Amino acid sequence: MSRGSEFVVVANRLPVDRIVGEDGVPRWRRSPGGLVSAIAPVMRRRNGTWIGWTGAPDEHLEPFEEDGMSLVPISQSAEDVELYYEGFSNATLWPLYHDVVAPPVYDRAMWDAYVRVNRRFAEAAAEVASEGGIVWVQDYQLQLVPAMLRDLRPDLRIGFFLHIPFPPVELFWQLPWRRRILEGLLGADLVGFQLPGAAANFVRLCKRLLDTRNIKQDVLWDGRVVRARAFPISVDVSELDDLVARPEVRERAQEIRSDLGDCTLLLGVDRLDYTKGIRQRLEAFGELFEDGHLKPGEAVFVQIATPSRERVEQYQLLREEIEQEVGRLNGDYGEIGFPVVHYMHSSYDRAELAALYLAADVMVVTPLRDGMNLVAKEYVACRADLRGALVLSEFTGAADELKRGAFLVNPYDIDGLKERLLEALGAEPAELARRMRSMRRRVLEHDVDRWAHAFLSELERPERERPDDVQP
Ligand code: ADP
Ligand code: G6P
Repeated sequence: MSRGSEFVVVANRLPVDRIVGEDGVPRWRRSPGGLVSAIAPVMRRRNGTWIGWTGAPDEHLEPFEEDGMSLVPISQSAEDVELYYEGFSNATLWPLYHDVVAPPVYDRAMWDAYVRVNRRFAEAAAEVASEGGIVWVQDYQLQLVPAMLRDLRPDLRIGFFLHIPFPPVELFWQLPWRRRILEGLLGADLVGFQLPGAAANFVRLCKRLLDTRNIKQDVLWDGRVVRARAFPISVDVSELDDLVARPEVRERAQEIRSDLGDCTLLLGVDRLDYTKGIRQRLEAFGELFEDGHLKPGEAVFVQIATPSRERVEQYQLLREEIEQEVGRLNGDYGEIGFPVVHYMHSSYDRAELAALYLAADVMVVTPLRDGMNLVAKEYVACRADLRGALVLSEFTGAADELKRGAFLVNPYDIDGLKERLLEALGAEPAELARRMRSMRRRVLEHDVDRWAHAFLSELERPERERPDDVQP
C-alpha cells in the first residue's frame, strides 16, 4: 500500500459485505446500518479511501474498487470477530452506550482484543494516508484509533464521529477501561457526536476522569485543543428523491398496497436490535385489536427486520421473542387471509425500501434509545406527497429535529403508544400535510452532504492558539 490518500475513512465495516450466493459465487452486498448509509455517499463524492472489514472471519483480500469507492480490507480472525466485534463492541459498548437496555458484559479478553484490533486499524490508516492528510475514524468499535494513529502519524488531521449515543457520566463510570477509552478519543482533533448533550457528557467526563482543563466544548489535552461538537447526521436526500421518482418504485408501492388488501399500512424498518423497541410497538399494535379499535383487514403492520449480530446472545433472545410475539398476534387476532403482522427477517435493496416508505400510512419508529435513526429521516425524505404519519420515539436523536411534525412517543408507555398510534391513524390529511411539511423542511435542508461538510470544515479549521484564560 502506498501513502497516497488525502482523505481516509476508517470504520469497522466496509460499505459492502462479501457474501456467497446459492450458486457458490461470491459477490458484494451493501452492509447494514446507518453508518454505511451516511458515509457511502460522502465517500463517493470525495474520492477517498475506506478502510474496514468485509464482514467475514479470516478473509485476506487486496485493496479493490467497488461502487466508485477505493476500499482497503482489514482482516479479522474468528477470534477477533468473537472477542472484538461480537464481544467488546457489541456485548459491552453497544448496550452500555444505549442506556444499558441490556446488561453489558465486562470481560478482559474482549478488551485485549479490542486494543489489538484497534491497533491494526490504526496501522492501516497510518500506511494509507498521505502527508498531512485527513483521517476520519467512525464509531464505537474504533475509539482507541485516534490516539494510536496520532502516535504513528502526528502530521495527520484526525476526526472521530460517534454514530451512537454517548452515555452520561454515571453509566460510563461502570466501564473498567473508562480512562483508556477517553484517552483514545482525545487523540482526535475533533470528536463529533449526534447531539449537544452527548458532547457535553464527553467534556464533563474528561474533566472528571482525566482532570483535563476545558473551555466550553474544548478539552485541553497533551498540549493540544480537542474540540467536542454535535453534528446530527442525516440522509442522502438526492438519492431518495431519485428513487421515489422512478416509475417502477411508484408501481411497486401500489403493488405492495394492493397485495395487502388496500388496508391501512403501518411500517417498521430496523436492524433486528433490542434497542429498537420492536416488541413494544407490536404489543401496542396488538392491543388495539384486543380493545376493538382495529379489526383484521382494516390495518396491517409490516415489520422489516434486517438480520444483525446473530451470534450475540442478546440478539438471539430478541429474535426468539419477536418471532413468538408475531406468531401470537397473528394467532390471536388474525383471520384467514388477514394476518395482522407481516414480519420479514431479511435485507432489502434501496428501491424496495423506498417503495415501502411510499406505501406506508404510518411509519413506526420506537427505539428505547438511538443515536439518530436514519429510517425516520428516510421516510420523511421520501414523502414529497406530504402524506403519511411518523410515530417517533422521544429517545431518538431524530426526535430533536422532527419533534414538531412527528407523533412523539415514549415507547416504555404502552398506553401512550396506543394513543399516539390511534391519533396518527385518525389524523386529517391537512394535519398530516402540515406535519410532513415541517419535517421535510428540516431534512431537506440538513442532508448528509451538509452534515459531512459541517464536520470536515470544522476539522480543517486551524487549531486555536492555546488560550491563556484557561480555568484550572
Ligand atoms: P442503525 O444504524 O442502528 O441500523 P438507522 O435507522 O440509523 O439505524 O439506520 C439504518 C439504515 O439501514 C437505514 O439507512 C435503513 O434504510 C437501512 N436498513 C434498515 N433495514 C433495512 C433492510 N431490511 N434492508 C435494507 N436496508 C435496511
Ligand atoms: C449501527 C452502528 C454502525 C454499524 C451498524 C450495523 O449503525 O452505529 O457502526 O456498522 O449499526 O451494525 P454491524 O454490527 O452489522 O456493523
